[in-house]
Amino acid sequence: MKDQKYALLTGATSGIGLELARLFARDNYQLILASRNENQLSATAALLKSEGAVEVLTIPTDLFQPGSAKELYEKVLATGIRIDVLVNDAGQGVYGRFVDNAMEDEVKIIHLNIISLVTLTKLFVKDMVERGSGKVLNVASIAGKTPGPWQAVYHGTKAFVHSFNEAVNHELKDTGVTLTSLLPGATDTDFFRVAGMESSKVVQEGELADPADVAKDGYEALMAGKDMVVSGFKNKLNVAMGNVTPDSAQAAMMDKQQRPADN
Ligand SMILES: NC(=O)c1ccc[n+]([C@@H]2O[C@H](COP(=O)([O-])OP(=O)(O)OC[C@H]3O[C@@H](n4cnc5c(N)ncnc54)[C@H](OP(=O)(O)O)[C@@H]3O)[C@@H](O)[C@H]2O)c1
Repeated sequence: MKDQKYALLTGATSGIGLELARLFARDNYQLILASRNENQLSATAALLKSEGAVEVLTIPTDLFQPGSAKELYEKVLATGIRIDVLVNDAGQGVYGRFVDNAMEDEVKIIHLNIISLVTLTKLFVKDMVERGSGKVLNVASIAGKTPGPWQAVYHGTKAFVHSFNEAVNHELKDTGVTLTSLLPGATDTDFFRVAGMESSKVVQEGELADPADVAKDGYEALMAGKDMVVSGFKNKLNVAMGNVTPDSAQAAMMDKQQRPADN
């Protein structure tokens, strides 16, 4: 096991996470995948092996559940495997006006997008710092750069992810451990269906990025030890413009983009 490299990915059965898993497999990483649906995990492991992956272990995990991230860490520890790269990809949104959405749904999103991500980062990064090497990819979003009416909680969670990533990456300068934040824009995955957001303007009328391109941008930034990458030229431009636009004006623009297309 000494010369083998291991990557642990959450959310790798679909979308951006699946494309990231393919890139790790291509570079001969052994993979550990964690998400909820066991059939999807088995099917993804079989797919990645058929494409040449060396080893793919799966650990069914529901990161909505309190305690689940720590349990995942303990299960990985029990295998004796040392994680070289942690990818926190699993994330979801809730669509709708904040006053109308169920409290429980939004609390679950905060748990998945923030608490589980912080817990996994804390536990694995401590080990990485002790060893003097390791990498983390945190999948944030350009949504974290703007207030987002119709997805108020989701945008807030992604602002957290990006800010957290930058701060910890800075603290760990010169330790051999780097944290990279990936900021995709709207991407053609299951995300919008799962969030109940298919009726929104951004899905009905917008251009969605290819998850393979997004994953490639994230993977390259991660391997280069960069603190962050915004995926795609148009998104880079939007983020740059957002930096000089008042938050209230950005909220008004996001309202137009994210409201139902027939609204
Ligand atoms: N698509 C976009 O437009 C977009 C843009 C910017 C950022 N992002 C971010 O990119 C990341 C990946 O999203 P995606 O677009 O690739 O979505 P996706 O295709 O829906 O994939 C989501 C993955 O996360 C897993 N997952 C969801 N809930 C989970 C839970 N409670 N516990 C464990 N695993 C869970 C899913 O598997 P199970 O359902 O089996 O658990 C699946 O593997 C997310 O963090 C998202 O916020 C997406």
